[in-house]
Amino acid sequence: MTTEDNPSNILRSSAELRYADELARLRAADNDPRPEGWQLSPRAVRRFILGDDKQAISRKFYGDDPLVDRAIVTLMGHQGLMLVGEPGTAKSLLSELLSAAISGDSALTIQGTAGTTEDHIKYSWNYALLLAEGPSKRAMVASPLYQAMESGKLVRFEEITRCPPEIQDVMISLMSEKQIMVPELGEQARMHARRGFNVIATANLRDRGVHEMSSALKRRFNFETVRPIKDHAFEVELVLRQVQRDLDSAEVTVEIERDVIALLVTAFQELRSGQTREGTPIRTPDTVMSTAEAVNVAYAAALEARYFGAGRLSAREIANQLQGVVLKDNADDLKRVQHYFDTVVRERARRDEHWKTFRDAARSLWP
Ligand SMILES: Nc1ncnc2c1ncn2[C@@H]1O[C@H](COP(=O)(O)OP(=O)(O)OP(=O)(O)O)[C@@H](O)[C@H]1O
Ligand SMILES: [Mg+2]
Repeated sequence: MTTEDNPSNILRSSAELRYADELARLRAADNDPRPEGWQLSPRAVRRFILGDDKQAISRKFYGDDPLVDRAIVTLMGHQGLMLVGEPGTAKSLLSELLSAAISGDSALTIQGTAGTTEDHIKYSWNYALLLAEGPSKRAMVASPLYQAMESGKLVRFEEITRCPPEIQDVMISLMSEKQIMVPELGEQARMHARRGFNVIATANLRDRGVHEMSSALKRRFNFETVRPIKDHAFEVELVLRQVQRDLDSAEVTVEIERDVIALLVTAFQELRSGQTREGTPIRTPDTVMSTAEAVNVAYAAALEARYFGAGRLSAREIANQLQGVVLKDNADDLKRVQHYFDTVVRERARRDEHWKTFRDAARSLWP
């Protein structure tokens, strides 16, 4: 038995496994027109990602519904889809959900790094077979992109801007010609992409910039900028659900009050945007304070409450776990966050129990 057959003991299974029954239900009820090569109609893909109460489909991506619609439309066309944005804004999550819904397979993924080579993008060889049998389809090791073209699926290209420029250039011709040549295979050399094939790339605005991408490659993608969630209630909802899901799958029970999560989200949103709820400007730390970090802090704090506390998450554990996010490499960040505690948090602590706990905990951490 492989780990994929027994999803209970693996840390994170792929979206098509996690949501297998939702996908099956959507498919069974899907009477809308479906583009060739797609597993679901565009409407059903939308429901899978944004949720649908009638069919008991959960919402998975929060904050920008029109972006999801545009992304789906892009993937039906000739252009690839490029999701750009700050770290932790769910670019990878969205690309995983789209490929799970559209192709039923989110595993065809190329991870872009400084060491990505042309082989990773096209194909390489099983050298034992190559020497024994000469070049053949069997001796060829197809890249995720090759497999996606051959089977008419989506391929995900994570962090494409981290690849060296010459590797990005390989993508230009592949995306316009929609075929891969394997000259060694003689008559079978040319492989044409089947319908359903397309590329979803993601790029992080804080790393090697999108501006370094050649304009030829940029032209082959429709760009969508994924922004941090602005709506407070939405973000609270997301953090609550995500933490609950993580706790459930780890079989850990912790009592979580919405108000405590609301405090965490408020602090994150204020530090991220440089402005308090009341409109006072504050200094923002350089460290990334995305929703993904908020989820991580809340989850770690919940574990602390379970294993070191009374099984009830309070603002104290949140303050403790915040350290790991804030204190990364920039000493000034600590000062900025301390300033936030000395002013904004202090003021609220006068009127609110949770904020008081939050402040008291931080005081002993950062005297
Ligand atoms: N709008 C959102 N909707 C749903 N989940 C979100 C949203 N924003 C952030 N998240 C949370 O962030 C987590 C991580 O997101 P993900 O890894 O996809 O981010 P990313 O944009 O790819 O980050 P990076 O640039 O660092 O690769 C998600 O699993 C989810 O918990
Ligand atoms: Mg990512």
